[in-house]
Amino acid sequence: MNTFPDLHGILTAFFGGLPWPIVLVNERGQVTYMNRLMQAADALPNSPEAPFASRFPEYAAALGGETPWLTAQTAAVIRNVEGRTLSEQISVHCLPIGACLIAIEQPDTAATLGDAQLARLASLGFMVAGVCHELANPLTAINSTVQLLRANPAAPALLDKGLANIAGNVERMLSISRRLNDFSRASDDARALLNLRTTVNDAVALLKHGNSSNEINVVCALDDTTIVHADPGQLQQVFCNVFTNAVQAMHGSGSLYICDSRPDGRYVEIAIHDTGPGIAESDLPRLFEPFFTTKPPGAGTGLGLAISNEIVLAHGGSMRAANEANGGACFYIRLPAVSP
Ligand SMILES: Nc1ncnc2c1ncn2[C@@H]1O[C@H](COP(=O)(O)OP(=O)(O)OP(=O)(O)O)[C@@H](O)[C@H]1O
Ligand SMILES: [Mg+2]
Repeated sequence: MNTFPDLHGILTAFFGGLPWPIVLVNERGQVTYMNRLMQAADALPNSPEAPFASRFPEYAAALGGETPWLTAQTAAVIRNVEGRTLSEQISVHCLPIGACLIAIEQPDTAATLGDAQLARLASLGFMVAGVCHELANPLTAINSTVQLLRANPAAPALLDKGLANIAGNVERMLSISRRLNDFSRASDDARALLNLRTTVNDAVALLKHGNSSNEINVVCALDDTTIVHADPGQLQQVFCNVFTNAVQAMHGSGSLYICDSRPDGRYVEIAIHDTGPGIAESDLPRLFEPFFTTKPPGAGTGLGLAISNEIVLAHGGSMRAANEANGGACFYIRLPAVSP
């Protein structure tokens, strides 16, 4: 079973007496032991030597790293066991015979949320508040116009102006609704293992179909072996939003450089650098706020980056923007990488 048979026996005797569900995993990622509490907290029959990822899919999905079940870390998990929702804090500890995973049940959901999940909740709350605010403005304008028209029913010039005003405000609400609809439609959570370079190339191809990018020179230098676990539609939406912004900032003419790096073993960071005017220093902290836009009314909803940031956060990553020393803006998208 492993090169430390005695150690395995000693550990299982020890773990058997502890008051938390515990599972042991060997170097090949197979379950070699589950204590009594882990077996009790699970609907599936005990099956030693089963691959950890298929035996405990919720745990495997919550963990990060190259071989997540062998990488020392903690994570929050919510799973369903025989109709009961369990909130657990799981921790992986490295051992000479592989790793041990301990699951400690939490009294309430909030206590089990990790930093990334809290950041995502805060950002979603911000988005909802922004949507209400942004819809309230055109609705108030429509309401005032309707009252004005009611008070002056026989003024044709006023009627034309009023209807144009209502149409403009309805158009604004429709564009916000279309943006949010794309976002919710894309959140079906159909995640798969994706080759990052192929996904970026698909987004570049979409961009090139647009008329406004004819004069854009795209230089893409991405590692062909980088794999990410992501929803293809959502990820493409992120790249399209960032590329479209760059094209708009360069007024349709300039260069877009796309490359990736590995800041540490767990993440891949994609840098998208344009040769546009860059971003005003005072705007940098506000870029990812919902409805922040510097475009003229009707030209942008200010939701592109807020939605992209939401998507990236939901994938366990992060986004940031900076001005480059040699000019232009650079957007960095960091995502958890999966080993090929
Ligand atoms: N590459 C860039 N160069 C300069 N400014 C940028 C760049 N990308 C984004 N910005 C700034 O960030 C703002 C917010 O971008 P975001 O995509 O969220 O909204 P938008 O482009 O204004 O509207 P929408 O995406 O709905 O069309 C933009 O209005 C622009 O001021
Ligand atoms: Mg945009």
